[in-house]
Amino acid sequence: MADGFAPLTFTPDVEAQTAAMWDKVKHHVTPMEWRLHAPLIAEINRLKREKNAVILAHNYMTPEIFHGVGDYVGDSLGLAREAARSDAAVIIQAGVHFMAETSKVLAPDKRVLIPDLLAGCSLASSITGADVRLIKQRYPGVPVVTYVNTTADVKAETDICCTSANAVQVVEWAAREWGVDKVILIPDEYLARNVARQTDVRIIAWAGRCEVHERFTAGDIADMRAAYPGAEILAHPECPAEILEAADFAGSTAAMNDYVALRKPRQVVLITECSMASNVQAESPGTQFIGPCNLCPHMKRISLQNIHDALVHDRYEVTVDPAIAARARLAVQRMIDLPPPAVPARYDLVKARHHVDVELI
Ligand code: 13P
Ligand code: SF4
Repeated sequence: MADGFAPLTFTPDVEAQTAAMWDKVKHHVTPMEWRLHAPLIAEINRLKREKNAVILAHNYMTPEIFHGVGDYVGDSLGLAREAARSDAAVIIQAGVHFMAETSKVLAPDKRVLIPDLLAGCSLASSITGADVRLIKQRYPGVPVVTYVNTTADVKAETDICCTSANAVQVVEWAAREWGVDKVILIPDEYLARNVARQTDVRIIAWAGRCEVHERFTAGDIADMRAAYPGAEILAHPECPAEILEAADFAGSTAAMNDYVALRKPRQVVLITECSMASNVQAESPGTQFIGPCNLCPHMKRISLQNIHDALVHDRYEVTVDPAIAARARLAVQRMIDLPPPAVPARYDLVKARHHVDVELI
């Protein structure tokens, strides 16, 4: 039963409408589960047309969301760009709360809904706007770069935002624009440490952590190498530096996707959230994806059922105080206006050049 409405059933029509999606998810979803997912997918796609809604789905969504109902799928940077240019009346954010806030900041006239208001993020909750005001008092004249994994309140105190796809580029841009040799990059300590290894700009960091990526250890990589000597290991920059040192490539979720699509490795390990591998696999049938698999409990709050209910009940609206949104928009728009980060021709060049420590606030 879909939230009090007539039960949605797996009819031949539903089966035909969702056949192409089934083909993409059939290695990750059982036929029995699909009989429950497919009617919801068909109904969500009908409701989207009726309500002029678009679903922006992050790479960490489960495969039935990612392949079944996502109109735009991608990394944080891609979703932010899409929110800015979408002409839909309603944006459903299949992701976490800071992403929905970013969409609202960039598209203030649109109705932005998140299917579960509790879909948070350990990085976003690690710092407040008041913290950033104190940091600015302590380091006057030093530009503040914040990761998009922050609340609008924090973005409003920021000079420019970045994502894991463009952090080095943004830090170097800020140092040039301000004519300084150091930049505040908050709140992800590990992203900051990893950026510091790829630039000559000195980095001032905050001790925020992603609860998913901080759990990986160098021992995990060593075990993978021993068990699968030929596998290529790709890691997200929210992981500790020792992981990136041991990996073959470091990049955002979109960069990992591009790596697999372009290089077509025989075996690959994605050191990031679990659903990422399932989603990439559909487009790369020749590659074998090997665990480990850490789940983000916040991303996993989003389901087909609550996306359906969001559309039916027009809930849960994400709002941002207009004065805060206007200031946050400057920081996000500055990032969006920079040229897209270059796709590296040789991925191994992306690895750390040198070891430089950060100044931890
Ligand atoms: P990206 O998709 O930008 O790589 O971010 C990963 C992440 O953890 C988002 O919450
Ligand atoms: Fe936040 Fe990490 Fe989850 Fe992304 S994966 S939403 S950074 S806790």
